[in-house]
Amino acid sequence: MTLRIGLLTSGGDCQALNATMRGIVKTLINKSSEPVEIYGFEDGYQGMIYRRYRKMDAHDFSGILTRGGTILGTSRTPFKRIDTPEADGVEKVPAMKQTYHDLNLDCLFMLGGNGSTKTANRLSQEGLNVIALPKTIDNDTWGTEMTFGFTSAVEIATKCIDDIHTTASSHGRVFVIEIMGHKVGWIPLYAGVAGGADVILIPEIPYSMDNVIKTIEKRMETGSRFTIIAVAEGAISKEDAALSKKEYKKKVAARTSPSIVYDIAKEIESKTGRETRVAIPGHTQRGGIPDAQDRIFATQCGVEAALGCLEGEFGFMVAQRDRHMCRVPLEDVAGKLKYVDPESDLVREAKALGISFGDE
Ligand code: F6P
Repeated sequence: MTLRIGLLTSGGDCQALNATMRGIVKTLINKSSEPVEIYGFEDGYQGMIYRRYRKMDAHDFSGILTRGGTILGTSRTPFKRIDTPEADGVEKVPAMKQTYHDLNLDCLFMLGGNGSTKTANRLSQEGLNVIALPKTIDNDTWGTEMTFGFTSAVEIATKCIDDIHTTASSHGRVFVIEIMGHKVGWIPLYAGVAGGADVILIPEIPYSMDNVIKTIEKRMETGSRFTIIAVAEGAISKEDAALSKKEYKKKVAARTSPSIVYDIAKEIESKTGRETRVAIPGHTQRGGIPDAQDRIFATQCGVEAALGCLEGEFGFMVAQRDRHMCRVPLEDVAGKLKYVDPESDLVREAKALGISFGDE
């Protein structure tokens, strides 16, 4: 008998995908009583749909612990269009099932974020043995305290805030730094605290520009020449948060600036008279090598996923709860986001320190 497994990385990449796959493969090879056959699908679910895969062995996973990106390639296959055929008429779910069965796989390991986990759940409901691993710099995967990619992204965003400090203080400027996180504020919250930002704006805590401006003016009155504002790409004003989803979408679509940070910077400059600049680390937050914490967590995820497979348990996502590794049913995770709790310790402590979230 041979254990035949498939591997794919789906959605936006991150620094610790290779470290995770190394953890899976090393554990399977080390612990399995049967020979292990590995199929790596290229570019996420696309590789499964179009049978783009390569047979891999232990050597392919050696020396990749520190390598960012993904050796398999990745792509986005939006779940909302999972039942819409591809442009060439190929039906995604039946094609993936066919590939899985033709390769006679015993398990598919899927490294992905929220959308990708919904597809993994669907495949599991269709009868495939699927194990998901929580990848995303955003840390917004429900059911786990941590996702791999998050701490490395926080490092990079923090470094950006650190670097901006020196130039902001030389010029006495206000800097508005856009930080990734899609619809949640985990990276800006953590990087903002780690980098000593003066204001942190996150989607979970709608802000008012009056409060932001008051903070800047107070800093100027007390002799601080500069202000650093860490803004989540999904930050939202109280005014916009009061709109219906439809009205808000319409407003965003009508925006002439590239993103919210430009509007915030413009308003600050016009209302305070202070020179204001925008800084955007962008995709550097997903780039480079995984930090030490990410390497450890990614390895843990890989090991636990492999152990689950060897025990014959499927249909779950590896997760961390109360600092322990565990398995969460895929159906419980799919379709849910993990938001920052505005009453959480870190927000409370940041506020106590004098960091403004623009809400008061
Ligand atoms: O989910 C990771 C993430 O980097 C988000 O923080 C960001 O909103 C999005 O992906 C960017 O996506 P893309 O790489 O497609 O531009």
